[in-house]
Amino acid sequence: MGKPHPLLHTGGLPVQALRAQFPVLAQRIHGQPLAYLDNAATTQMPLAVQEAMQRFERHDRANIHRGVHTLSQRATDAFEEARATLKRFIGAGTQHELVFTSGTTEALNLVAQGLWAAGPGKAWLRPGDRIIVSGLEHHANLVPWQQAARMSGAELVVLQPDAQGRVHEADLAPLLTPNTRVLALTACANATGERPPYEALLAMARAAGALTVLDAAQAVGHAMPALAELEADFMAFSGHKMYGPMGTGALAGRREALERLYPLRLGGDMVEWVSYTAAGYAALPARLEGGTPNVAGAVGLAAAARFIDGIGREAIDLHVQALRAQALAGL
Ligand SMILES: Cc1ncc(COP(=O)(O)O)c(C=O)c1O
Repeated sequence: MGKPHPLLHTGGLPVQALRAQFPVLAQRIHGQPLAYLDNAATTQMPLAVQEAMQRFERHDRANIHRGVHTLSQRATDAFEEARATLKRFIGAGTQHELVFTSGTTEALNLVAQGLWAAGPGKAWLRPGDRIIVSGLEHHANLVPWQQAARMSGAELVVLQPDAQGRVHEADLAPLLTPNTRVLALTACANATGERPPYEALLAMARAAGALTVLDAAQAVGHAMPALAELEADFMAFSGHKMYGPMGTGALAGRREALERLYPLRLGGDMVEWVSYTAAGYAALPARLEGGTPNVAGAVGLAAAARFIDGIGREAIDLHVQALRAQALAGL
Protein backbone atom coordinates (compact mmCIF):
# COMPACT_ATOMS: atom_id res chain seq x y z
CA MET A 1 0.00 0.00 0.00
CA GLY A 2 3.07 2.27 0.06
CA LYS A 3 3.67 5.08 2.49
CA PRO A 4 1.02 5.96 5.09
CA HIS A 5 -1.37 8.65 3.98
CA PRO A 6 0.03 11.92 5.35
CA LEU A 7 -3.30 12.84 6.94
CA LEU A 8 -3.81 9.55 8.74
CA HIS A 9 -3.53 9.85 12.48
CA THR A 10 -3.27 6.25 13.64
CA GLY A 11 -4.53 6.73 17.24
CA GLY A 12 -3.28 3.23 18.09
CA LEU A 13 -5.09 1.38 15.29
CA PRO A 14 -3.16 -0.62 12.67
CA VAL A 15 -4.35 1.81 10.02
CA GLN A 16 -2.38 0.44 7.07
CA ALA A 17 -3.50 -3.14 7.74
CA LEU A 18 -7.10 -1.98 8.08
CA ARG A 19 -6.86 0.12 4.91
CA ALA A 20 -5.65 -3.00 3.07
CA GLN A 21 -8.94 -4.66 4.04
CA PHE A 22 -10.75 -2.13 1.82
CA PRO A 23 -9.72 -2.72 -1.82
CA VAL A 24 -11.72 0.29 -3.00
CA LEU A 25 -9.26 2.57 -1.18
CA ALA A 26 -6.31 1.29 -3.20
CA GLN A 27 -6.79 3.82 -5.98
CA ARG A 28 -5.83 7.37 -6.72
CA ILE A 29 -8.37 10.06 -7.43
CA HIS A 30 -7.19 13.37 -8.93
CA GLY A 31 -3.67 11.98 -8.53
CA GLN A 32 -4.02 11.53 -4.75
CA PRO A 33 -4.55 8.38 -2.64
CA LEU A 34 -8.29 8.11 -2.09
CA ALA A 35 -9.37 9.65 1.21
CA TYR A 36 -12.97 8.51 1.55
CA LEU A 37 -14.88 10.86 3.88
CA ASP A 38 -18.50 9.97 3.12
CA ASN A 39 -18.86 7.24 5.77
CA ALA A 40 -21.94 8.85 7.31
CA ALA A 41 -23.74 8.20 4.01
CA THR A 42 -22.22 4.78 3.24
CA THR A 43 -19.16 3.00 4.59
CA GLN A 44 -16.97 0.86 2.36
CA MET A 45 -17.00 -2.93 2.65
CA PRO A 46 -13.92 -4.83 3.90
CA LEU A 47 -12.68 -8.05 2.30
CA ALA A 48 -13.91 -10.10 5.27
CA VAL A 49 -17.50 -9.09 4.47
CA GLN A 50 -17.12 -9.51 0.70
CA GLU A 51 -15.59 -12.97 1.18
CA ALA A 52 -18.30 -14.13 3.59
CA MET A 53 -20.96 -13.19 1.04
CA GLN A 54 -19.05 -14.80 -1.79
CA ARG A 55 -18.61 -18.02 0.20
CA PHE A 56 -22.35 -18.17 0.80
CA GLU A 57 -23.15 -17.53 -2.88
CA ARG A 58 -20.62 -20.11 -4.07
CA HIS A 59 -21.35 -22.94 -1.66
CA ASP A 60 -24.63 -22.53 0.22
CA ARG A 61 -27.05 -20.54 -1.95
CA ALA A 62 -30.62 -21.84 -1.74
CA ASN A 63 -33.96 -20.67 -0.42
CA ILE A 64 -34.39 -20.82 3.34
CA HIS A 65 -37.00 -22.41 5.60
CA ARG A 66 -38.55 -24.22 2.64
CA GLY A 67 -36.42 -26.96 1.14
CA VAL A 68 -35.39 -30.10 2.99
CA HIS A 69 -32.29 -30.50 0.85
CA THR A 70 -28.76 -29.87 2.13
CA LEU A 71 -28.21 -26.44 0.58
CA SER A 72 -31.52 -25.15 1.90
CA GLN A 73 -30.62 -26.36 5.37
CA ARG A 74 -27.19 -24.76 5.16
CA ALA A 75 -28.68 -21.49 3.92
CA THR A 76 -31.26 -21.55 6.71
CA ASP A 77 -28.50 -22.17 9.27
CA ALA A 78 -26.41 -19.32 7.83
CA PHE A 79 -29.40 -16.94 7.98
CA GLU A 80 -30.27 -17.87 11.57
CA GLU A 81 -26.61 -17.70 12.66
CA ALA A 82 -26.45 -14.21 11.16
CA ARG A 83 -29.53 -13.26 13.18
CA ALA A 84 -27.93 -14.59 16.37
CA THR A 85 -24.64 -12.75 15.67
CA LEU A 86 -26.45 -9.46 15.12
CA LYS A 87 -28.56 -9.88 18.25
CA ARG A 88 -25.34 -10.32 20.22
CA PHE A 89 -23.74 -7.36 18.44
CA ILE A 90 -26.50 -4.93 19.48
CA GLY A 91 -26.78 -6.39 22.97
CA ALA A 92 -30.27 -7.81 22.61
CA GLY A 93 -31.72 -9.60 25.63
CA THR A 94 -33.91 -12.70 25.80
CA GLN A 95 -36.95 -10.42 25.51
CA HIS A 96 -35.80 -9.20 22.07
CA GLU A 97 -36.15 -10.42 18.50
CA LEU A 98 -34.48 -9.20 15.32
CA VAL A 99 -36.13 -8.99 11.92
CA PHE A 100 -34.08 -8.55 8.75
CA THR A 101 -35.03 -5.61 6.53
CA SER A 102 -33.51 -3.80 3.55
CA GLY A 103 -32.25 -1.08 5.89
CA THR A 104 -33.29 1.56 8.39
CA THR A 105 -35.89 3.07 6.08
CA GLU A 106 -37.74 -0.21 5.69
CA ALA A 107 -37.40 -0.95 9.41
CA LEU A 108 -38.93 2.41 10.37
CA ASN A 109 -41.71 2.00 7.80
CA LEU A 110 -42.39 -1.45 9.23
CA VAL A 111 -42.94 0.14 12.64
CA ALA A 112 -44.87 3.24 11.55
CA GLN A 113 -47.17 1.38 9.12
CA GLY A 114 -47.43 -1.60 11.40
CA LEU A 115 -48.92 0.60 14.11
CA TRP A 116 -51.84 1.80 11.98
CA ALA A 117 -52.33 -0.85 9.29
CA ALA A 118 -54.42 -3.21 11.46
CA GLY A 119 -57.25 -0.66 11.13
CA PRO A 120 -59.71 0.98 13.52
CA GLY A 121 -60.24 -0.82 16.81
CA LYS A 122 -57.14 -2.99 16.40
CA ALA A 123 -54.24 -0.66 15.57
CA TRP A 124 -51.99 0.82 18.28
CA LEU A 125 -52.53 4.33 16.85
CA ARG A 126 -56.04 5.81 17.20
CA PRO A 127 -57.63 9.15 16.33
CA GLY A 128 -56.49 11.86 18.74
CA ASP A 129 -53.33 10.00 19.78
CA ARG A 130 -49.98 11.77 19.77
CA ILE A 131 -46.78 10.78 17.94
CA ILE A 132 -43.60 12.66 18.88
CA VAL A 133 -40.49 12.86 16.72
CA SER A 134 -37.51 15.13 17.26
CA GLY A 135 -36.51 17.95 14.95
CA LEU A 136 -33.22 16.12 14.27
CA GLU A 137 -34.68 13.17 12.38
CA HIS A 138 -33.65 11.84 9.00
CA HIS A 139 -36.58 11.80 6.55
CA ALA A 140 -36.80 8.03 7.11
CA ASN A 141 -37.89 8.72 10.70
CA LEU A 142 -40.24 11.58 9.83
CA VAL A 143 -42.15 10.85 6.62
CA PRO A 144 -43.49 7.42 7.78
CA TRP A 145 -44.82 9.14 10.93
CA GLN A 146 -46.49 11.87 8.89
CA GLN A 147 -48.33 9.13 6.99
CA ALA A 148 -49.07 7.19 10.20
CA ALA A 149 -50.66 10.35 11.66
CA ARG A 150 -52.73 10.93 8.49
CA MET A 151 -53.94 7.33 8.30
CA SER A 152 -54.74 6.90 12.00
CA GLY A 153 -56.03 10.38 12.84
CA ALA A 154 -53.20 10.90 15.34
CA GLU A 155 -51.32 14.19 15.65
CA LEU A 156 -47.61 14.50 14.94
CA VAL A 157 -45.69 16.73 17.36
CA VAL A 158 -42.04 17.77 16.92
CA LEU A 159 -39.64 17.98 19.86
CA GLN A 160 -37.73 21.04 18.72
CA PRO A 161 -33.97 21.34 19.22
CA ASP A 162 -32.46 24.50 20.71
CA ALA A 163 -30.43 27.04 18.71
CA GLN A 164 -27.36 24.77 19.02
CA GLY A 165 -29.27 21.79 17.58
CA ARG A 166 -29.63 19.95 20.91
CA VAL A 167 -32.76 18.32 22.30
CA HIS A 168 -33.48 18.36 26.02
CA GLU A 169 -35.43 16.27 28.52
CA ALA A 170 -37.05 19.45 29.88
CA ASP A 171 -38.56 20.13 26.44
CA LEU A 172 -39.92 16.59 26.08
CA ALA A 173 -41.67 16.55 29.47
CA PRO A 174 -44.52 18.99 28.58
CA LEU A 175 -45.14 17.18 25.27
CA LEU A 176 -45.78 13.82 26.96
CA THR A 177 -49.57 13.77 27.31
CA PRO A 178 -51.56 10.68 28.44
CA ASN A 179 -52.45 10.00 24.78
CA THR A 180 -48.82 9.99 23.59
CA ARG A 181 -48.42 6.60 21.91
CA VAL A 182 -45.04 6.89 20.15
CA LEU A 183 -41.69 8.64 20.56
CA ALA A 184 -39.42 8.15 17.53
CA LEU A 185 -35.91 9.45 18.01
CA THR A 186 -32.50 9.32 16.41
CA ALA A 187 -29.49 8.02 18.36
CA CYS A 188 -27.27 10.30 16.26
CA ALA A 189 -28.41 13.01 13.84
CA ASN A 190 -27.19 12.38 10.31
CA ALA A 191 -26.91 16.09 9.45
CA THR A 192 -24.95 17.30 12.49
CA GLY A 193 -23.66 14.24 14.36
CA GLU A 194 -25.57 15.43 17.43
CA ARG A 195 -26.14 12.65 19.95
CA PRO A 196 -29.36 13.31 21.87
CA PRO A 197 -29.64 12.08 25.47
CA TYR A 198 -31.69 9.23 24.07
CA GLU A 199 -31.39 6.95 27.11
CA ALA A 200 -33.29 9.50 29.25
CA LEU A 201 -35.70 10.59 26.51
CA LEU A 202 -36.74 7.01 25.70
CA ALA A 203 -37.17 6.22 29.40
CA MET A 204 -39.42 9.27 29.89
CA ALA A 205 -41.61 8.37 26.93
CA ARG A 206 -41.87 4.73 27.93
CA ALA A 207 -42.81 5.69 31.51
CA ALA A 208 -45.58 7.80 29.96
CA GLY A 209 -46.96 4.72 28.18
CA ALA A 210 -45.59 5.36 24.68
CA LEU A 211 -43.84 2.89 22.40
CA THR A 212 -40.29 4.06 21.80
CA VAL A 213 -38.40 3.86 18.50
CA LEU A 214 -34.65 4.42 18.18
CA ASP A 215 -33.13 5.16 14.77
CA ALA A 216 -29.62 3.78 15.25
CA ALA A 217 -28.50 4.09 11.60
CA GLN A 218 -25.63 6.44 12.49
CA ALA A 219 -24.93 4.95 15.91
CA VAL A 220 -24.81 1.18 15.53
CA GLY A 221 -21.22 1.07 14.26
CA HIS A 222 -20.04 3.07 17.27
CA ALA A 223 -20.06 2.57 21.02
CA MET A 224 -23.60 2.62 22.32
CA PRO A 225 -25.47 0.99 25.20
CA ALA A 226 -26.70 -2.57 24.76
CA LEU A 227 -30.28 -2.71 23.52
CA ALA A 228 -31.17 -4.63 26.70
CA GLU A 229 -30.15 -1.56 28.75
CA LEU A 230 -32.28 0.86 26.75
CA GLU A 231 -35.96 1.70 27.18
CA ALA A 232 -36.38 1.18 23.43
CA ASP A 233 -39.23 -0.92 22.09
CA PHE A 234 -37.76 -0.79 18.58
CA MET A 235 -34.31 -0.13 17.15
CA ALA A 236 -33.54 0.24 13.43
CA PHE A 237 -30.19 0.10 11.62
CA SER A 238 -28.63 -0.31 8.17
CA GLY A 239 -25.83 -2.60 7.00
CA HIS A 240 -24.19 -0.12 4.63
CA LYS A 241 -23.40 2.30 7.48
CA MET A 242 -21.50 -0.38 9.41
CA TYR A 243 -19.21 -1.83 6.70
CA GLY A 244 -21.95 -4.21 5.57
CA PRO A 245 -23.74 -4.66 2.25
CA MET A 246 -26.14 -2.09 0.83
CA GLY A 247 -29.82 -2.99 1.01
CA THR A 248 -29.46 -4.82 4.34
CA GLY A 249 -30.46 -3.90 7.85
CA ALA A 250 -32.71 -4.86 10.69
CA LEU A 251 -35.48 -3.97 13.02
CA ALA A 252 -34.79 -5.25 16.52
CA GLY A 253 -37.21 -4.88 19.38
CA ARG A 254 -39.06 -6.27 22.32
CA ARG A 255 -41.08 -9.26 21.22
CA GLU A 256 -44.33 -7.89 22.63
CA ALA A 257 -43.79 -4.61 20.74
CA LEU A 258 -42.89 -6.37 17.47
CA GLU A 259 -46.03 -8.50 17.89
CA ARG A 260 -48.12 -5.30 17.81
CA LEU A 261 -46.99 -4.58 14.25
CA TYR A 262 -49.27 -5.47 11.38
CA PRO A 263 -46.90 -7.04 8.81
CA LEU A 264 -45.83 -4.82 5.93
CA ARG A 265 -45.15 -7.69 3.52
CA LEU A 266 -47.86 -10.32 3.22
CA GLY A 267 -47.04 -13.49 1.33
CA GLY A 268 -44.78 -16.51 1.46
CA ASP A 269 -42.88 -17.58 4.57
CA MET A 270 -44.89 -15.33 6.92
CA VAL A 271 -47.94 -17.61 7.10
CA GLU A 272 -48.73 -20.75 9.11
CA TRP A 273 -51.70 -21.76 6.99
CA VAL A 274 -53.60 -20.32 4.03
CA SER A 275 -57.06 -20.93 2.59
CA TYR A 276 -58.66 -19.10 -0.34
CA THR A 277 -60.29 -16.63 2.02
CA ALA A 278 -57.94 -16.27 4.99
CA ALA A 279 -54.48 -16.95 6.39
CA GLY A 280 -52.91 -17.45 9.79
CA TYR A 281 -49.72 -15.45 10.25
CA ALA A 282 -46.55 -17.10 11.55
CA ALA A 283 -44.83 -16.25 14.83
CA LEU A 284 -41.91 -13.81 15.00
CA PRO A 285 -39.51 -13.29 13.32
CA ALA A 286 -41.00 -14.93 10.17
CA ARG A 287 -44.24 -12.96 10.65
CA LEU A 288 -42.45 -9.74 9.66
CA GLU A 289 -40.17 -11.24 6.99
CA GLY A 290 -42.54 -12.08 4.13
CA GLY A 291 -40.89 -13.12 0.86
CA THR A 292 -37.44 -14.45 0.08
CA PRO A 293 -34.92 -12.48 2.12
CA ASN A 294 -31.45 -11.25 1.15
CA VAL A 295 -29.65 -14.22 2.71
CA ALA A 296 -26.17 -13.33 1.38
CA GLY A 297 -26.81 -9.82 2.67
CA ALA A 298 -27.64 -11.11 6.14
CA VAL A 299 -24.47 -13.22 6.10
CA GLY A 300 -22.48 -10.13 5.05
CA LEU A 301 -24.12 -7.99 7.72
CA ALA A 302 -23.13 -10.51 10.40
CA ALA A 303 -19.57 -10.56 9.02
CA ALA A 304 -19.54 -6.75 9.29
CA ALA A 305 -20.58 -7.00 12.95
CA ARG A 306 -17.71 -9.42 13.56
CA PHE A 307 -15.32 -7.08 11.72
CA ILE A 308 -16.33 -4.19 14.00
CA ASP A 309 -16.09 -6.32 17.14
CA GLY A 310 -12.64 -7.51 16.01
CA ILE A 311 -11.42 -3.90 16.13
CA GLY A 312 -13.62 -2.73 18.99
CA ARG A 313 -16.17 0.06 18.82
CA GLU A 314 -14.34 2.08 21.48
CA ALA A 315 -11.08 1.87 19.49
CA ILE A 316 -12.90 2.99 16.32
CA ASP A 317 -14.45 5.93 18.17
CA LEU A 318 -11.10 6.98 19.67
CA HIS A 319 -9.60 6.96 16.19
CA VAL A 320 -12.46 9.05 14.79
CA GLN A 321 -12.09 11.53 17.66
CA ALA A 322 -8.36 11.80 17.00
CA LEU A 323 -9.00 12.48 13.30
CA ARG A 324 -11.64 15.06 14.21
CA ALA A 325 -9.27 16.85 16.59
CA GLN A 326 -6.58 16.83 13.92
CA ALA A 327 -9.01 18.24 11.33
CA LEU A 328 -10.18 20.98 13.73
CA ALA A 329 -6.61 21.94 14.59
CA GLY A 330 -5.71 22.00 10.89
CA LEU A 331 -8.72 24.15 9.98
C1 LIG B 1 -30.08 8.76 10.94
C2 LIG B 1 -30.48 8.04 9.68
N1 LIG B 1 -31.66 7.40 9.65
C3 LIG B 1 -32.05 6.71 8.58
C4 LIG B 1 -31.30 6.65 7.43
C5 LIG B 1 -31.79 5.87 6.27
O1 LIG B 1 -31.01 4.74 6.09
P1 LIG B 1 -31.17 3.79 4.81
O2 LIG B 1 -31.07 4.69 3.61
O3 LIG B 1 -30.02 2.86 4.92
O4 LIG B 1 -32.49 3.12 4.91
C6 LIG B 1 -30.06 7.32 7.41
C7 LIG B 1 -29.23 7.32 6.20
O5 LIG B 1 -28.53 8.28 5.92
C8 LIG B 1 -29.65 8.03 8.57
O6 LIG B 1 -28.47 8.67 8.60
